[in-house]
Amino acid sequence: MTVQFPAEFTFGAATASYQIEGAVAEDGRRPSIWDTYSHTPGRVARGENGDVACDHYHRFGEDVALMKQLGLDSYRFSLAWPRIKPDDGPVNAAGLAFYDKLVDELLAAGIEPAATLYHWDLPQTLEDRGGWRERDTAERFAEYAAVAAGHLGDRVKKWITLNEPFCSSILGYADGVHAPGAQEGEGALKAAHHLMLAHGLATQQVRSAVPDAQVGITLNLASVQQVSDSPADAEAARRNLLIGNLIFTDPVLAGTYPDHAREVWAPITDFSFIQDGDLATSHQPLDFLGVNFYFPSRPKAVAHNEPDPAKRVASDLGVESVVHDGEYLTEMGWPVDAGAFTDLLTWLQDAYGDALPPIYITENGIACPDVVREDGSVDDQDRIRYVGDHLKAVKAAMDKGVDIRGYYLWSLMDNFEWARGYQPRFGLVHVDYDTLKRTPKASFDWYRNVSATHEVP
Ligand code: NOJ
Repeated sequence: MTVQFPAEFTFGAATASYQIEGAVAEDGRRPSIWDTYSHTPGRVARGENGDVACDHYHRFGEDVALMKQLGLDSYRFSLAWPRIKPDDGPVNAAGLAFYDKLVDELLAAGIEPAATLYHWDLPQTLEDRGGWRERDTAERFAEYAAVAAGHLGDRVKKWITLNEPFCSSILGYADGVHAPGAQEGEGALKAAHHLMLAHGLATQQVRSAVPDAQVGITLNLASVQQVSDSPADAEAARRNLLIGNLIFTDPVLAGTYPDHAREVWAPITDFSFIQDGDLATSHQPLDFLGVNFYFPSRPKAVAHNEPDPAKRVASDLGVESVVHDGEYLTEMGWPVDAGAFTDLLTWLQDAYGDALPPIYITENGIACPDVVREDGSVDDQDRIRYVGDHLKAVKAAMDKGVDIRGYYLWSLMDNFEWARGYQPRFGLVHVDYDTLKRTPKASFDWYRNVSATHEVP
């Protein structure tokens, strides 16, 4: 069944600085935690890193031309903190100049820029001082946000403070599968709290620099599916909701933490890192909530009595999903369930009601086994099916009354998929990492048609 989106609905695509830019030592950029992590043996598959990535830093003109050909209304990208305030030192004019050029090129192509301030590239010098475990990092982030918004805000009106703070805190400081690769219990909870604080402080800075800005935050939220009626699975689902969603949505949308956070994590922290006024700071009026969705969460009931605090927090993640026999899995090993996307969006509406701002889907997409034919083309029907079904799931939520304003497909082009390196390909555009040649896939033409007609076949 064909589905029609409203004329004013935004169709976009998304990327992030470290995943595409390369040029890691150019024009005054200094290392981030992802440079360190990817250059540490054993951390990233096949020892890959973002040194060159898609070389977007030098090829952004070609990339914007592709976006124009694609008919994007808006492009979501991230600013590299270590280009703009390297080593937490003075402002680096050359770093800002790159984003000037990119933004000007986008505007000339009629594409709205949507800038994310933090997509995981924390300056390494700040990590050396404790990183997100420390309150000071939130203050430094606000300073950087003020500089970026002050400089680009005459042209960039859509601002996203953080991308997926769940990953920066829990995956980075408890699970260790993301930079900085720590495996701690309390450290991860501190990181989550300081990220929420950083979001609030940065929102204030962006608003004062750019009075007509639209400001939001991007959260990857779990659509939790309890796998059985057993008490252990019920508890796994409750913890998954807590760590995957509530410790981020509650501070941002309600200015609170859920009561059971204290109960669940009492064995690993006394929460003394939460200071008076922090939750009021995190709870800034927002113009939109960015939601990233990829797969349903079917948390495995793991040992919640795990005595090691790091493992204890990691075990609450719920990202280890139960997979059904014979189920289609993406290249990331993720199950596919578009209905879970509708469920998540309606859950947000039910849970937060009038406190929920309009939603943008800031990421959704799939890594699938793209086969490059002899003529260089890629007929990625799995991607077309996935995106079509998920767009329909978004429309189903809109039909149930959820206010959703746009959809950014992840990703414009194949790129550095963090600890998984270059193997999983999420792009509408194929990138040959030997030659850096860009080739639009079949999904590119399909998505161009969707954004032109606002119709999903
Ligand atoms: C979410 C992240 O924001 C993005 O950087 C990543 O590449 C995609 N998910 C796919 O895993």
